[in-house]
Amino acid sequence: MALDVVILAAGQGTRMRSEKPKVLHSLAGKPMVRHVIDTATGLGADRLHVVIGHGGDQVRDSLADCSVQFALQAEQKGTGHAVAQAMEGLGEGKVLVLYGDVPLIRRETLAALLDEVNDQRMALLTVTLDDPAGYGRIKRDTEGRAVAIVEHKDASEAERAIAECNTGIMAMTAEQLRRWLPQLSADNVQGEYYLTDVIAMAAGEGTVIATAQPATPVEVEGVNNRLQLARLERAYQLAQAERLMTEGVALADPARLDVRGHLQCGRDVEIDVGCVFEGDVELSDGVRVGPYCVIRNSRIGAASVIEAHSVLDGAVLEGKSQIGPFARLRPGTHLAQGAKIGNFVETKNATLGEDAKINHLSYVGDARLGREVNIGAGTITCNYDGANKHFTEIGNRAFIGSNTALVAPVTIGEGATVGAGSTINKNVDAGALAVARGRQIGKSDWPRPQKTPKQEH
Ligand code: UD1
Ligand code: MG
Repeated sequence: MALDVVILAAGQGTRMRSEKPKVLHSLAGKPMVRHVIDTATGLGADRLHVVIGHGGDQVRDSLADCSVQFALQAEQKGTGHAVAQAMEGLGEGKVLVLYGDVPLIRRETLAALLDEVNDQRMALLTVTLDDPAGYGRIKRDTEGRAVAIVEHKDASEAERAIAECNTGIMAMTAEQLRRWLPQLSADNVQGEYYLTDVIAMAAGEGTVIATAQPATPVEVEGVNNRLQLARLERAYQLAQAERLMTEGVALADPARLDVRGHLQCGRDVEIDVGCVFEGDVELSDGVRVGPYCVIRNSRIGAASVIEAHSVLDGAVLEGKSQIGPFARLRPGTHLAQGAKIGNFVETKNATLGEDAKINHLSYVGDARLGREVNIGAGTITCNYDGANKHFTEIGNRAFIGSNTALVAPVTIGEGATVGAGSTINKNVDAGALAVARGRQIGKSDWPRPQKTPKQEH
C-alpha cells in the first residue's frame, strides 16, 4: 500500500520565546522538522505533507529543497482540523501522522506501527509515563482493547490516574481517515477538533486499534521550550556517542561530543573531549583527534593526527598527516600522504604533495604545492588583488624561506629556493635561488643614540 505521511507543524511554539517557528529550531544542527522529514523519507513514504500555520512562510522557505507538499492551516483549530487540511493531497493507501516538534521518532518504531494497519485495523503509538499530566490518556475496555483517548483537560480524576498516554502518532488507511475526520466535533473543553477522537470512532465501528510503544520515551518527546530541546539534543548526542563506541571508537568522554550530521569512523579512532563534527565526516583507521576540534565535511586519512583546537572544513587528507594545533583548513584543502600543517596556518583551495610541510603561521590559498615542499613560517600567498583571485604553483622540493610574500599569479620551479623575507612577484626557475629584499648594510663605527638628560625646571 502507498504511504502518505502528514507532519503537523502549524503550532506557534510560544514557549520557545523566539521569532523563529518552533519546528525550525535545530537539533544536532538540523531543524527539528527536517529530522521528521528524513525519518519519513527513510520509511519509503510516497508523499509527505507538512501542515503549516504560524510562521508558515518561514517553514516553507526553509524546506524549499525538500520534496514535500504544504497544507496551510490558517487557524489552529486542533490536531484533527490540522490533518483535515492535508486530506486533499492524500492517496489511497496508508496515512501516518507525525509531528514537526517530535524529532527523535525512529523509523523502526514507525515501520512496526504501519505493519499493523489494514482495512480492519488502525495503529496508535502510546507511552507509559510516570507523570502523564497534560497528555491524552488511553482508555481500554475490560479485555484490554484501546477504545478511546480522553484529553487531560477533559478527563475525570479516575481517567487522569491512567499512566498510558497518547503520543499523538497514529496510522490508518486514507479511507478510514476520510470516513472519520468529517465526524469530529469541537464540543470539548478546548473547543478544538481533536484528532484523538477518531479512536472512539474506530472502536465504535469495530475497527481494531493496535497499539505499540517506542523503544524509549525520548523518541516520542515533543519540544515546547528550549530546555526540552536541549534535553533531546543531549539524548541524541549520547546515542551517537554510544553508537560510535559500539563500533570501536575511543571517546575520551561520551558526554562531550557533538555530531551534527554523519560521522563515520574506522577502527581504533580516538576522539578527545569537546569535538564537533558537522556534515559528512570520515575518520579512517587509527585517526586521533585532539581536544576541541571542529571538523566539517572532511575525509581524514588513516593514522592522521589532528591536534587540539584545529578547524577543518571541506578538507581531504589522503593518508597519514599531522595537523595543528590551532590550524584552519578551509574548503578545497587536499593533502597527500605525509603532508603536514602546523600551528596558526590557514589553507584554502590548496593541494599539498607528499611530505609537503607548512609548519607555522602561514596563509596558503589557491595554490598547488609539489612533494616535499617546505614553506617557512610567516609565508603568505597573496592570492587576491582586490578584484580577482590568482594561483600559486610551487614545484617539488622547493624551499620557501620564512616571511615570504608570494604575489600570485606566480610559479616557483622544482627545487627552487626563496630567501627569507622575499616578496616574489616573478616566476622562479627550477633549481634557482631568488632573494627579493632590501640588502643588509653594516656600519662598524655607528654611535648608538643616547638618552637625553631630563631638564630641571
Ligand atoms: C496532543 C494530543 C494528546 C497527546 C499529546 C502528545 C490531541 C487532541 N491531543 O495534545 O492526546 O497526548 O498531543 O504530545 O491531539 N498542531 C497543529 N495545528 C493545530 C493544533 C496542533 O499543527 O491546530 C500541532 C502542534 O504544532 C503540535 C501538535 O500538533 O506540534 C500537537 O498539538 P498540541 O496542541 O501541542 O497538542 P497537545 O495538546 O499537546
Ligand atoms: Mg493543545
